[in-house]
Amino acid sequence: MAVAVIVGTQWGDEGKGKIVDFYASRADLVVRFCGGANAGHTIVHGKTKYKFHHVPSGILSPGKINIIGNGTVIDPKKLLEEIDTLHQAGAKPNLIISPRAHIVLPYHFALDSAQEQKKGGLAAGTTKRGIGPCYSDKAARFGVRMGELIDEPTFKEKLHVLHELRVKGLSEVYNTPFSKSEAEVFSEYSSYAKKLAPYVKDTTEIIGAALSKKKNMLLEGAQATMLDIDHGLYPFGTSSNTTAGGACTGSGIGPTAIDEVIGVVKVYTSRVGTGPVPTELFDTTASVIRDKGGEYGTTTGRPRRIGWLDLPTLRYASQVNGLTGLAFTRVDTLSGVDEIKICTHYSLNGKKLLTIPASHADFAACKPIYKSFKGWEDIGAEGWSKVAKKGFSSLPKEAQAYLSFISKELKVPIYAVGVGAGREDTIVLKDVFSKRR
Ligand code: GDP
Ligand code: IMO
Ligand code: MG
Repeated sequence: MAVAVIVGTQWGDEGKGKIVDFYASRADLVVRFCGGANAGHTIVHGKTKYKFHHVPSGILSPGKINIIGNGTVIDPKKLLEEIDTLHQAGAKPNLIISPRAHIVLPYHFALDSAQEQKKGGLAAGTTKRGIGPCYSDKAARFGVRMGELIDEPTFKEKLHVLHELRVKGLSEVYNTPFSKSEAEVFSEYSSYAKKLAPYVKDTTEIIGAALSKKKNMLLEGAQATMLDIDHGLYPFGTSSNTTAGGACTGSGIGPTAIDEVIGVVKVYTSRVGTGPVPTELFDTTASVIRDKGGEYGTTTGRPRRIGWLDLPTLRYASQVNGLTGLAFTRVDTLSGVDEIKICTHYSLNGKKLLTIPASHADFAACKPIYKSFKGWEDIGAEGWSKVAKKGFSSLPKEAQAYLSFISKELKVPIYAVGVGAGREDTIVLKDVFSKRR
């Protein structure tokens, strides 16, 4: 029995969905603890590709309880679409939504776009899913929680205050007229509320009961360390705590209950959105990796920026998350590149930095210092499938050396290695649910 947190260690899209789906088959509960429809988590089962934004990535494992935790922000329309897709696919999702999760309202979408425009060079290139404005209203205590949305009189009262304030703000501050009336918003969101109400239960209580029964639990992160509101590259990140601490506050679990924190590491860097990425590549290597890996945003379709693996950000991620294990992804995608580089440290104003500076201006000025590695051969889909079955020692020896170097530098053991997008394309070195540490 164990509780394991799964977080992104880089800029998102590391393959958290795939790793959660993999471990979920051995878990009893999966809890998504942060973010909203800005996330896009891909799961490939056979020939079918699922892209989830809200529902936890354990949703395809029959019988598992999947919880959308209090730390998330929910776009009810998007969530209902996902539930429909699951039903159409014949899945019987056992989904529970926290009454404490916040609701993304139409003003939040409009404000997201308007605020990005105002920010100019400091805009993060958001997903336009209303995330920042929704978390702002949560922090200012104007927000509407799921439990309030499904309680019609409370929703009506809260919406009345918010509608006036936000519509006025949009038009007077941002010169953005908002066309929907309060009655229209109320009617639309009340209809969502009716459909979602059966899923809303006190998740903190359910999680507490599971802990006392010593159930296996996965806490699923969204976004990643470099996008965390506190620890990420402010202001180029998102608006929630996406690191392991957020797993506690976003689900209602104390830190002492957590046994494992698994950091998902893509074997190179990718980034959607703006802001400095010291190891970014602008040559053909980037386009080769992007095209081979289909590196386009799951949520927005934007091409992902590509770079070499960056150890200073990973050392930082290891510290702020307290990583106990690493799950590598995309070893197959990086194959076929003759020479691969890892940034071992930065040089900033003549100083050697092993981890990242606090300011984004300093971060932008960091010069990456590289160590070269010999690349490994692309052994084709069938070859990678065989490797997944045979285990770590059957990986090309150059790939073994590359992964072992990272693990040694971070002083964190390897728990899993992805060599393809499917659940079965995973080499498992440690099954976190086999026993407590
Ligand atoms: P997430 O947001 O961290 O869940 O990641 P995304 O789903 O946005 O992006 C990761 C992409 O990589 C998805 O298309 C996955 O199917 C894919 N993926 C994950 N692990 C592997 C792997 O080991 N090899 C390959 N080829 N694809 C992978
Ligand atoms: P998953 O869970 C990659 C980025 C956006 C933008 C910044 C803020 O799939 O890894 P937001 O819409 O949250 O206000 O945008 O964060 N971003 C992501 N990048 N993967 C994600 O989620 C992301 N969620 C947000 O591109 O730079
Ligand atoms: Mg993603």
